[in-house]
Amino acid sequence: MRIDIITVLPELLRSPFEASILKRAIDKGLVEVHTHNLRDYSDKSYNQVDDYQFGGGAGMVLMIEPIDKCITGLKKAREYDEIIYLTPDGETLNQKMANRISMLHNIILLCGHYKGVDQRVRDTLITREISIGDYVLSGGELGAAVLCDTVIRLIPGVLNNETSALTDTFQDNLLAPPVYTRPAIYKGLKVPPILLSGNFPEIENWREDQAQKRTEHLRPDLLE
Ligand code: ADE
Repeated sequence: MRIDIITVLPELLRSPFEASILKRAIDKGLVEVHTHNLRDYSDKSYNQVDDYQFGGGAGMVLMIEPIDKCITGLKKAREYDEIIYLTPDGETLNQKMANRISMLHNIILLCGHYKGVDQRVRDTLITREISIGDYVLSGGELGAAVLCDTVIRLIPGVLNNETSALTDTFQDNLLAPPVYTRPAIYKGLKVPPILLSGNFPEIENWREDQAQKRTEHLRPDLLE
């Protein structure tokens, strides 16, 4: 998979890809992440990429020209499955969307800033709009990092134990069951005895039951 991220703040997108699972996925060649600084596509003085909104009103808007140049250049080199704009008024990201996106080959992520982008970008260049939740970030970069994280860990070969993404919370619309590790007793707090029994079919039953109960208690909306 190849992910191209268009941003005015590339430095915000460095560290998530320099550690842990995402770095390993890149090092293994399972994903390529390329960041493009929108200012490099500006023809204006001081590499200006934003301007006042027509009709007045507070806040700057990212201009269509540098975004169009950047996206058009990328599209000349390869075909893209989706060109995604990160925005609080997009479709809310969930696990099902992450699963689908993880199966794509090439995607572009456009990070908004200030008041957003010129509507003509959304009308003509963008194929999908995604929000990471009902709150406003100061830009799309952290949203893009969240989207990349959730998608990249689903690419086959990224997680060491291939089954571990399958047992994640949300994968079957259920929250994950509780997990424990050593010691078996800590300050009098005991691990459920079934987990120490070695009876794996019974352990599996217990986990399914716990996942169901947890979901009923904490997220009944997932069961509707
Ligand atoms: N940009 C600003 N807020 C955002 C959000 N909630 N999700 C994605 N991109 C955003």
